Amino acid sequence: MKLAVIGGGSTYTPELVDGFARLRDQLPIDELWLVDPDPERRRLVGGVAQRMFAHAGHPGTVHVTDDVVAGVSDTDAVMFQLRIGGQAARQQDETWPHEACCIGQETTGPGGFAKALRTVPVVLEYAELVREHAKPDAWIVDFTNPVGIVTRALLEAGHRAVGLCNVAIGFQRRFAREFDVAPEAVRLDHVGLNHLTWERGVHVRSADGSERDVLSELLGADGGALGTGALGTGALERMAESVHMPADLIRLQHAVPSYYLRYFYAHDVVLEEQLHERTRAEAVMDTERALLTKYADPSVVTKPAELEQRGGAYYSEAAIDVLSSILGDRGDVQVLNVRNDGTFPFLPDDHVIEVPARVTRSTITPLPVEPLAPDMAGLVSHVAGYERLALEAAVHGGRDRVLRAMWAHPLVGQVDKAERLTDLLLAANADLIPWA
Ligand code: G6P
Ligand code: MN
Repeated sequence: MKLAVIGGGSTYTPELVDGFARLRDQLPIDELWLVDPDPERRRLVGGVAQRMFAHAGHPGTVHVTDDVVAGVSDTDAVMFQLRIGGQAARQQDETWPHEACCIGQETTGPGGFAKALRTVPVVLEYAELVREHAKPDAWIVDFTNPVGIVTRALLEAGHRAVGLCNVAIGFQRRFAREFDVAPEAVRLDHVGLNHLTWERGVHVRSADGSERDVLSELLGADGGALGTGALGTGALERMAESVHMPADLIRLQHAVPSYYLRYFYAHDVVLEEQLHERTRAEAVMDTERALLTKYADPSVVTKPAELEQRGGAYYSEAAIDVLSSILGDRGDVQVLNVRNDGTFPFLPDDHVIEVPARVTRSTITPLPVEPLAPDMAGLVSHVAGYERLALEAAVHGGRDRVLRAMWAHPLVGQVDKAERLTDLLLAANADLIPWA
């Protein structure tokens, strides 16, 4: 089996390689191709990846190249994890929105929109090379953010693609630790759009195969008074803390929102914090420097601990799960970014949503979900409207399209603010957006 990673020079790659090495029975790789335009990254990340495979006794070979065609030729699957403009572009996305009193974030709000405008044209260009040179039934697995918009761009262009995020697997692992069970024993009712999701049920399977919804237990059988559930208050408080939101909010929604919802539910608080703190991009740049120094050290043959400081925990596991389900035609269920196809009746069929889906060699099909509560459906619709306009702007370009999508975002809304943010976005990205 041949796999290619576009953006293979990412400092995250050893996370993926560690997963490939540990789970090689699930995913027998003969050739792993890391494709990256940066020679230094190819040397350092490629070097450590090769040492990691050798150290683990993995029989596969690791190749590095800047040639996308060589990388994707005859592959069974291609992973996209590229970041146009690197962390420097992210630093901008996290700061210029402040000038219009809006949070700065790499995937949510105006910053995420800028990322979409930079990224979609490049992803579509590389996807054409996959279509031309990879095996005819090869899949594209996309972790490139913003995953919802990028995956929809790929599907609209007729590619065989699925979007992946680690938020759900992170919750699954966290709940498994909390309730002292294996991760596989936890099944989530995860609903929403990428980086706009809620866990509406947390089902824990016992040895006899029966399942209990521990979220309902935590909230009390009637969803009533906080902490009246059989499991007491501690677990609920810890859950709330992990998403940086009040436990009361979980009780009101009868669901655990992902921490990305904080940019909506606590926008002004987050903005105030951001104005006084260093950006996430700056912190990540420090971590990346430390990681690259390690990767340069020939004695480093395993994944360095510093990688745990990145947000992508467990993403290798999620990636291996989806790749081995596709390539092994397993028919199991995973949380993925897929075409809506009626799952949320209030969204167009071709919108991309993040829900549990059944995975086979040729299809990835969302499972039916219970109707969303009005507050969730309202926000999902609003953000989906923005996402559709954002993709049009990314594909066709033009200031008016950018302005309309910006205005449509629920964190923007007002037209003068949208005008200002559009000017800021275009000025900051003049060299990185093809048509700007
Ligand atoms: C989570 C998200 C990813 C995002 C990452 C950022 O894992 O699901 O989509 O890229 O966080 O992590 P970072 O360490 O770059 O802040
Ligand atoms: Mn994600």
